Amino acid sequence: MLYIILLMQLHLSAVMSKWSVSYSPVRICAFEGSSVDFSCSFEYPDTHTLRTLKWFKPETYQKQDGSQNGIAVYHSSAEEINKLYQKRTVYTNQDKNCSLKLHNVSKTDIGRYFFRLTTNRYYGKFTGSGGINLNVAVLPFRVKVDKTKANGHIHEGDSVTLTCGTENCTPKQGPFTWFKNNLLLPHATESELKFSFVSHEDFGNYSCGLKNSNRTLTNETLLDVRYSPKNVEITVSPSGEIQEGDSLTLTCNSNANPAVTNYTWFKISRTNVSYVGCSREYVIRVVNQTDDGQYFCIAKNDIGYQNSTVLTVTVVKVEEPGHPHFLLAATCALLFGIAVTLVIFCLVKRRIQLATKRLTKQVLNNNENSTDQRPTVTLTEEVYENLRIMSKSEFEENITNLTYADLMLPPTTTDRPRRNSQEDHLVIYSLV
Ligand SMILES: *[C@@H]1O[C@H](CO)[C@@H](O)[C@H](O)[C@H]1NC(C)=O
Ligand SMILES: *[C@@H]1O[C@H](CO)[C@@H](O)[C@H](O)[C@H]1NC(C)=O
Ligand SMILES: *[C@@H]1O[C@H](CO)[C@@H](O)[C@H](O)[C@H]1NC(C)=O
Ligand SMILES: *[C@@H]1O[C@H](CO)[C@@H](O)[C@H](O)[C@H]1NC(C)=O
Ligand SMILES: *[C@@H]1O[C@H](CO)[C@@H](O)[C@H](O)[C@H]1NC(C)=O
Ligand SMILES: *[C@@H]1O[C@H](CO)[C@@H](O)[C@H](O)[C@H]1NC(C)=O
Repeated sequence: MLYIILLMQLHLSAVMSKWSVSYSPVRICAFEGSSVDFSCSFEYPDTHTLRTLKWFKPETYQKQDGSQNGIAVYHSSAEEINKLYQKRTVYTNQDKNCSLKLHNVSKTDIGRYFFRLTTNRYYGKFTGSGGINLNVAVLPFRVKVDKTKANGHIHEGDSVTLTCGTENCTPKQGPFTWFKNNLLLPHATESELKFSFVSHEDFGNYSCGLKNSNRTLTNETLLDVRYSPKNVEITVSPSGEIQEGDSLTLTCNSNANPAVTNYTWFKISRTNVSYVGCSREYVIRVVNQTDDGQYFCIAKNDIGYQNSTVLTVTVVKVEEPGHPHFLLAATCALLFGIAVTLVIFCLVKRRIQLATKRLTKQVLNNNENSTDQRPTVTLTEEVYENLRIMSKSEFEENITNLTYADLMLPPTTTDRPRRNSQEDHLVIYSLV
């Protein structure tokens, strides 16, 4: 009795162990239009003869456990194959190899696939449990931002994963390409781009795609890493030497996300640090000596703050009108001017005196016989008028000529040369 039970158990276990179907992989994510391989192998009792082999997919409204047959994706009797799958499947048809290739997958192929075999025996029916779950990635791709801290924003130091995929799934087939701000990231070839400790330098727009397909390139997705102000620096306008009376603008520049909300300006003079302003620019409309000193700014946003380096402003003095030195210089210049004028005046005066004396002598000599003095008067007036524009030689020549011309004048009445000459000299002096 015991022997019989043992024998039956052995027989049963042998029978049971003979029936099996194994699938690999059990989950597949494929691109729309691509081909998928359902890798599969099976076992059945040696004493049986295979009758039918089929792959089926339960309808969406059916149980997905393989208990309901649904539609035939592949069948050893070709006429049993569903229209949707005809000419799209390639069955391996080797002994105990149930691998199936499915071409041109689409969204309608999404579902679970099972392999079932039957034999010539009454109880020779077996369906591999579990099946293969097929998902279809419907383009376009998009970059999904996933991070460990689920709440709120991404901050520096967080762990962030960008996934290149679709709503449904991410095919493992690659290689992938990643772009940051439209520049290729040469080392990123996986569907996932991981940042263990994200930095402010990772801030930017990301897109991805399949290396061999432009079609899959995505829109840009911003990796919005938030960080406290960086590179806080002061720029000075105008640059160069700062003189008293100039206007001066100091600007606090920084890189921050989100943008800086508060700027604070400080001035250090000796050991005194004083608050001087609270906008991005610190403007001094008219610089004076008291603005001399060191300045720095602090930029602050929601995350934190940073100080700028210290900027030294040196105000250069300017010699302004009203300054003693200027007055002295002006006085000197004035005195020098007066001196020069006096010298010129004296020289001119002396020359005129000489010229007039000589002229009068000549006139007197030439008119010894004459009694008329009017021509002489006219003559001196001429001399005076020409004085300014004539050189010394011209002047003398002219006088001679004029004197000469006078010789032609017809002699007239009385003799009063000296008095007229003296009067004329007086006129000249007063005018000079
Ligand atoms: C089954 O067939 C497929 C496709 O022909 C092949 O790639 C695979 O190696 C086969 N499996 C076994 C176990 O022979
Ligand atoms: C692939 O399937 C789509 C429908 O899902 C069809 O329009 C297309 O023509 C098929 N492509 C090929 C190469 O058979
Ligand atoms: C990211 O893209 C948006 C929209 O296209 C653009 O406004 C922004 O300037 C981009 N950012 C960077 C860092 O390139
Ligand atoms: C890309 O952006 C454009 C404009 O915002 C939008 O119309 C389009 O649907 C987007 N494409 C994808 C793949 O997200
Ligand atoms: C920053 O500026 C806002 C408004 O401009 C103000 O309410 C806030 O008190 C300021 N914070 C600091 C720390 O100065
Ligand atoms: C520091 O400077 C500010 C403004 O320039 C002034 O009001 C304050 O009295 C000074 N403090 C000391 C300790 O000198």
